[in-house]
Amino acid sequence: MSIDWTRLHQAAVEAMTHAYAPYSKFPVGAAALVDDGRIVTGCNVENASYGVGLCAECGLVSALHATGGGRLVAFTCVDGHEELLMPCGRCRQLLYEHGGPELLVETADGPKPMAEILPYAFGPDDLSRGREPWTPSTSSSPSATAAS
Ligand code: THU
Repeated sequence: MSIDWTRLHQAAVEAMTHAYAPYSKFPVGAAALVDDGRIVTGCNVENASYGVGLCAECGLVSALHATGGGRLVAFTCVDGHEELLMPCGRCRQLLYEHGGPELLVETADGPKPMAEILPYAFGPDDLSRGREPWTPSTSSSPSATAAS
């Protein structure tokens, strides 16, 4: 699938104009190409309770699922000056879930696979390795600790 990075950048800029960032005054817009060809976007939405604020990538991932799901193929992000921005650590994890190690992320050095942006990632595969289900041992269960 060919990737129109200029179009993605424009979509991220457009999303950024909708940011709600009255506290940081740092609007962010994110855009991604989905494997069916559509583009999904998101902007950051802050909150008076600062820690509750949502990064632009949160909105993008929600838009991905709200509009039909699929896998992310290419991603870009911009700040209020329309300059390229790298996703924060938490959002790299968010993006990894929906694009995996092959998701291309725009960087100052060109597009790079998520495997380089979030190396040694924890992901869905780590939860489904076919190991025995974990069960609490008597010595570490809360009731055993309380009784001793
Ligand atoms: N922000 C994002 O939206 N995405 C990122 O990847 C980095 C940070 C937002 C969160 C907050 O609203 C503002 O940028 C300043 O940190």
